[in-house]
Amino acid sequence: MAEKAVLGFLEKEEEIPDSGQFATERGIDHDDIVNVIKSLRGFGFVDAQDIKREKWVLTEEGRTYAAAGSPEVQFFLAIPAEGIPPVELQRNLDPSIFKIGRSQAVKNQWVEMGKQRVSRKVPHVEDRVKDLLIGVQDGEVINPEDVDALKRRKLITPQIWKGYSIRKGANYAPERKKVATDLTRDYLQRGDWKELEFKEYNFSAKGQPVEGGHLHPLLKVRQQLQMIFLQMGFEEMPTNNFAESSFWNFDALFQPQQHPARDSHDTFFLQVPSTTKMLPEDYVERVKSVHESGGYGSRGYGYDWKREDANKNVLRTHTTAVSSRMLYLLAQKPFAPKRYYSIDRVFRNEAVDRTHLAEFHQIEGLVCDRGLTLGDLKGVLSDFFSRLGMSKLRFKPAYNPYTEPSMEIFGYHEGLKKWVEIGNSGMFRPEMLLPMGLPEDVRVIAWGLSLERPTMILYHIDNIRDLFGHKVDLSLIKKNPICRLGIE
Ligand code: PHE
Repeated sequence: MAEKAVLGFLEKEEEIPDSGQFATERGIDHDDIVNVIKSLRGFGFVDAQDIKREKWVLTEEGRTYAAAGSPEVQFFLAIPAEGIPPVELQRNLDPSIFKIGRSQAVKNQWVEMGKQRVSRKVPHVEDRVKDLLIGVQDGEVINPEDVDALKRRKLITPQIWKGYSIRKGANYAPERKKVATDLTRDYLQRGDWKELEFKEYNFSAKGQPVEGGHLHPLLKVRQQLQMIFLQMGFEEMPTNNFAESSFWNFDALFQPQQHPARDSHDTFFLQVPSTTKMLPEDYVERVKSVHESGGYGSRGYGYDWKREDANKNVLRTHTTAVSSRMLYLLAQKPFAPKRYYSIDRVFRNEAVDRTHLAEFHQIEGLVCDRGLTLGDLKGVLSDFFSRLGMSKLRFKPAYNPYTEPSMEIFGYHEGLKKWVEIGNSGMFRPEMLLPMGLPEDVRVIAWGLSLERPTMILYHIDNIRDLFGHKVDLSLIKKNPICRLGIE
């Protein structure tokens, strides 16, 4: 209807000077006219010039007065002919109506504000403010002083009105024919295609965005790391158990039972099932005795090792729990060297801040062979990290209950132009390996790092909550670039 009106009018007349007026005269919604004009203009049926006008609209307060009357008149009408004590009047009126109404009514000299009594000074008043507001609402033109007064009382506010003046365009026709967009089977069978007008291809239109699955940055980086491990001949360890017994998470790793990391401050304990049912009993005995009194050239810790503590189930605090299970399994067979890796989730009962969450992912690698040395560890680490794009490494002595020696790994970050801590490493202690039953000359070199840290650096994310958890912006996952490690 709007389209017909516009094209029909231009058939006889030069111009529609004002789309607003045009719409009102015909009882058509102005938005409909605007949409039609935009489309007709796109196809060259019409030329349109923008018109902008400032128009006044009522504020929320203005609308309430237009309906219920101005506060001053409400105030005036609440005063009976014989007057009223101020407190009583105040009780009868809404606080803001009382306050505003009083000051306006006094200004208009409609009322007398005595201490004991408020009384009318005039017999009757007219509500000009209400009338003006209704006028504005109906689009009437009101004089500038009145506009000013209403504006000062914040009863009206300016709004930019946008419309068009319209003339015939280069492709003007009194009617727009619907053009066909597809050559369908029906058109072909009926033969209508011969008469039909087809819509032209719009080669500059943007295509539909291709929607599909999107990998989270952590998964992209994980995939790259997996490739690196596989290229280096590592096998993946099965990490599909978030719940683990304290035994495999701590005891098998020669971590004493009083160690602070085993405290509930750092570790999540499971309530159901709270304890493990199955542990290899003969190995448990050897672990107990190495903790209590040592052996294999060690003095042990000299404390009373408790089976109940080892039985407690926890959410694994590191993937080294999986490494300990794998090494134990390896020790049950004739020895063969192995390279193992894993990348999976671990849990720590930590205060959450911009770089820490209570769960994160660990990357872990280990090499198990006869006669390995610290030099081998440094060699494997430099191979591994150079594939990540970090070829300058430094090591700092550190302490882990299960490795000796232990080294923190620092890498020089070329982008950030500084040394950043990138991981932890070491050689597993004999107190851990020998009770498992591994041959005496077998050494295991291992290292671990978080997956979040390199991901945040690569994707320039400085708050971990923007990377992981319920606050993550899903569009980040759709838009982030692919990950390629080690490519300069
Ligand atoms: N498990 C250690 C950690 O949680 C990492 C590590 C793995 C250290 C292997 C040494 C050897 O930080």
